[in-house]
Amino acid sequence: MSRIALEMSGQLNRAASMSVAGNMAHPLKDSFGRSHSSLRVSLTDRCNLRCGYCMEEEATFLPAESLLKKKELLWVVSTLVELGVKRVRLTGGEPLLRRDLDEIVFDLKSISGIEELTLTTNGILLEKWAEKLKKSGLDRLTISLDTLDPAVFKRLTRRDELGRVLAGVEAGISAGFQGTAINSVLLRGINEREVGALIEFAHRRGMRPRFIESMPIGAGNYDRGSFISAGELLDLIRDTLGDVVPVPNQFKSATARLFQVKSGLVGIIASVSEPFCGSCDRLRLTADGKFKSCLFSMGETDLLPIIRPEKGSWDRERLVQAVTQAVWHKAAGHEMHAEHFIKPARTMHSIGG
Ligand code: 5AD
Ligand code: SF4
Repeated sequence: MSRIALEMSGQLNRAASMSVAGNMAHPLKDSFGRSHSSLRVSLTDRCNLRCGYCMEEEATFLPAESLLKKKELLWVVSTLVELGVKRVRLTGGEPLLRRDLDEIVFDLKSISGIEELTLTTNGILLEKWAEKLKKSGLDRLTISLDTLDPAVFKRLTRRDELGRVLAGVEAGISAGFQGTAINSVLLRGINEREVGALIEFAHRRGMRPRFIESMPIGAGNYDRGSFISAGELLDLIRDTLGDVVPVPNQFKSATARLFQVKSGLVGIIASVSEPFCGSCDRLRLTADGKFKSCLFSMGETDLLPIIRPEKGSWDRERLVQAVTQAVWHKAAGHEMHAEHFIKPARTMHSIGG
């Protein structure tokens, strides 16, 4: 949605004259009046899959030394929590590749002010991690799963790992995680026929199926032909499972639109066809310490020099200044659906999904 469209729609109340300094009562409010209470923290850009819509087979990864260390991460996150962040989601790449993950979870949970700590994973290593993560205090899981067919899984992810993902899903249940979401991206001609099976798979396990429109943020050229819009997806669900009834979502900043089918609720995240930028409350921290106010912003604020100062100790004021400035300058919205949209240089795995 364009800036003008957003303003005209009355979703945003631009406090244009308010300076950053004058906004310290609500330090994570942007110039359009949006407050920010969600933070997505990428723990690594590495991954044990190579989903075509996310990265190249030959992806290059950050050198280990540029990843934020646990102590550095905790400092940034706790400062952001003091400024108003309440929900933290750990992402990657694949966050379960981080060896100190359970310690990070445990330490984050001890920051007072974090109301919810969640994690998004591809599930491959969940058998190894699920119990440790539960014990460390992780609140909820989101597992990415686009197909239940091993051959399609291999085509989509370039790896033969469906078996371990499915075992990971069961491990999450055995460890006692509740309200797990199963996130799927459907692509035309590849896995759209599985929409009904994926919904049933999730509902049978007491999980929440959610479908995300494919976004032009992966590797290589975006294939518009494979894109399935939320509208089309609803038709597909209706054709497969019968009645689909919209249900209001009680959370103002919720990205998923909810629908009732016979077996339960289905979430649809229409980031491309119906952007929810007007109510976005999300901020992002990349694994190498870059702060982003939007998944699609071309710019990013490098916090590493503040997190890892050459001389001296941590300067909290400098960090606060840097993040509040970045939030203040957050753009009204992305224009992913527009012909002139330019893909940011970073792909999904290096920003954090
Ligand atoms: N479009 C939509 N979703 C994507 N993901 C990764 N790349 C894309 C993309 N280009 C999703 C994954 C996973 C989450 C981390 O991000 O499917 O569910
Ligand atoms: Fe890995 Fe997730 Fe990217 Fe797939 S989408 S390659 S699982 S980071």
